[in-house]
Amino acid sequence: MHPTLNIAIKAARRAGQIINRASLDIGQLQVSTKQQNDYVTEVDKAAESAIIDILRETYPKHAILAEETGRSGQEDSEYQWIIDPLDGTTNFIHGFPQYAVSIAQVHKGTLAHAVVYDPSRNELFTASKGAGAFLNDKRIRVSKRTKLDEALLGTGFPYRMFDHVDAYLAIFKEMTKRTAGVRRPGAASLDLAYVACGRLDGFWEFGLSPWDMAAGALLISEAGGLVSDLAGESNYLATGNIIGGTPKVFSQILQVIAPHRQGALAA
Ligand code: IPD
Ligand code: CA
Ligand code: CA
Repeated sequence: MHPTLNIAIKAARRAGQIINRASLDIGQLQVSTKQQNDYVTEVDKAAESAIIDILRETYPKHAILAEETGRSGQEDSEYQWIIDPLDGTTNFIHGFPQYAVSIAQVHKGTLAHAVVYDPSRNELFTASKGAGAFLNDKRIRVSKRTKLDEALLGTGFPYRMFDHVDAYLAIFKEMTKRTAGVRRPGAASLDLAYVACGRLDGFWEFGLSPWDMAAGALLISEAGGLVSDLAGESNYLATGNIIGGTPKVFSQILQVIAPHRQGALAA
C-alpha cells in the first residue's frame, strides 16, 4: 500500500473513533446551523481537526481544503488534501447510521488517493490511482449491470438551494420510471463508494462541494466505473454536479439528464 494512503487511513480511522464515541450520546450534541438545512456539530469540527493534525505531522506543507476550516497550508503545493470530516451530518444528528469520513489527495490536479470510512459499520473504502479500489482490503469493482431498467441508483435531493428543483424533479420522475429503484441515503461520499463496490449501479447529484465527491469519484474510477459532470466532462469538482456508474449505466444516466441540463446548470 502507498504510504500516503496509509496516513490518510490513519486520519480517517481517528476521525471515525471521534464520531463513534459521539454517536453513543447524540442527545448531548450541540448543533449549529450554517445556513438553511446545513448543520454542523462539534463532532464535525473535532473530527476535522484530528484529521488535519495527522496529515500535518507527515505533510506540513501540503495544501488543504477542508469543509469546516477551509483552505490552509501552502496554496502553491502540488499536493492538496480535500476533506469532509463527517459527510452526512443530518443523518448523524438523527442517529440514522449512514455517514462517513471522506479524505482525498490530489496531486498536480489529479486525484491520487482516496479514503471513505463508514465508522458505524467499520467499512473502509480505499483507492490509489492506478492501483484499484478496495473495501476492507478486498478488491472491489462496479457491478456488471448494463441496463438502466435493472439498475438501482443513488441520488441526493436538493435540500438547500432550490433554484434547479424543477429540473431535478423532472429527472427524478424519469429515473423512477426507468430504473429498478432510486435511493437517497444522505451521504454523497458513501453513495459513490457504494457505486464502486456494486451496491448501487449509478448515482447523480447536483450542487455538491468538492469534499463530498473527491474521494468517492476516485473509488469509482479505480473500480472500473465512470464519473463525469453533466456534460460528460471531468469538471465535477468545480461544477458540483456529478454522475457516476458502471460504464453502460453511466451513459444511460447521462442521456436521461441531457434534455434537462440547462435547468440543472442554472443552479
Ligand atoms: C451532505 C451529504 C448529502 C448531500 C449534501 C451534502 P454534509 O454533506 O453528502 O448526501 O446531499 O449535498 O452537503 O453537509 O452532511 O457533509
Ligand atoms: Ca458532505
Ligand atoms: Ca460534512
